[in-house]
Amino acid sequence: EWQSVPLAPPDSIFQLTAAYKEDTFEKKINLGVGAYRDDNSKPWVLPVVKEATRILLNDETLDHEYLPITGLPEFTAAAAKLILGADSPAIADGRVSSVQTISGTGANHLGALFLSRFYQWGPSEKQVFLSNPTWANHQAIFKNVGIPPVDYPYYDPKTVGLDFNGFVESLKSAPERSVFLLHACAHNPTGVDPTPEQWAIIADVMLEKQHFAFLDCAYQGFASGDLDNDARAVRYFVQKGVSLLICQSFAKNAGLYGERVGALHIVSTSKEAAARVKSQLSVLQRSEISNPPSHGARIVSLILNSPDLFEMWKRDIATMAHRIIDMRKELFRLLTEELHTPGNWDHIVKQIGMFSFTGITPKQSKALIDEHHIYLTGNGRISMAGLNTHNIQYFAASLDSVVRS
Ligand code: LMR
Repeated sequence: EWQSVPLAPPDSIFQLTAAYKEDTFEKKINLGVGAYRDDNSKPWVLPVVKEATRILLNDETLDHEYLPITGLPEFTAAAAKLILGADSPAIADGRVSSVQTISGTGANHLGALFLSRFYQWGPSEKQVFLSNPTWANHQAIFKNVGIPPVDYPYYDPKTVGLDFNGFVESLKSAPERSVFLLHACAHNPTGVDPTPEQWAIIADVMLEKQHFAFLDCAYQGFASGDLDNDARAVRYFVQKGVSLLICQSFAKNAGLYGERVGALHIVSTSKEAAARVKSQLSVLQRSEISNPPSHGARIVSLILNSPDLFEMWKRDIATMAHRIIDMRKELFRLLTEELHTPGNWDHIVKQIGMFSFTGITPKQSKALIDEHHIYLTGNGRISMAGLNTHNIQYFAASLDSVVRS
């Protein structure tokens, strides 16, 4: 049996974590997976999550019964308000169908599956436009449900910034009603986001062409340190009436990676349509996971629904976002002022969120791994959260050395 099953390559991101764990070199650094670390390279359980967990542990009314198929209602309702705004007319009108998912990946999958079954593709073939580059898992998720991915220009290696003209051209030339996956904030892997003015132009073209926005929002709070600020593009799109769905993850902003807490929100034009959409999401969810896990959703629900915990969470998010911003500044200072590393490094401080796209070549990335025990993806992406006051000097010196050789 299984003679014809080919051996699959390891996952490009998770293999780095495995290799890092095996490495015995004292100064090794893991800049691969996008997971927050504190200044001592340790995972950080957010103080607000500790507090919420303590409350849950003492709650005698809780049990391990199944959640409803579409998830914990008080979690999904609060999650919708978090991304769309508490005063969102779409929520008030009952036009939002929200379903709890297995984190952002599950939301992407369920959203993609729903589109593959129900989206009216117009003159275009079934396909999804993904930014070039994007999170590697996006390709796999869409292929998995029979939606072939195609690229749209996004990153310009010359400026280490946004290829805005290329992006807009692609929106304009795509067949009407095409589906475009957009990173709502803190683009992964580049850390390059459109400006508010550019988002407005993108929304206009999407409306003109009746495109569908598949908004992936895995880093709300991580871009600016402010939850509302990071939801601006999403709220603007909803306000303008762009057809859309939102994939929401609490892995990064609540540090709940392994708890798999997320939600899918589909915004419809009427309450009736939203009820039909939700009924179909429920059917899809039932056959895939039956119903989602309760623990992480209860933690997030408690945080979102208690004003004190919510304030505490905002402080924790600011702590993470600002430590990362400090590391950006320090790396920039080391490269430009101390080491005088050849090249322009402005992008290190301009880019947003968990990641920086360094602009180094695959060969230089490989040299960082092989010669310096610094783990990063082959495209030159580094997780800024892996840098801290103890290892940043070693990283800057190593980067300087591979850039010069
Ligand atoms: C990443 O891009 O490193 C994260 O989103 C983790 C993952 O699931 O790949």
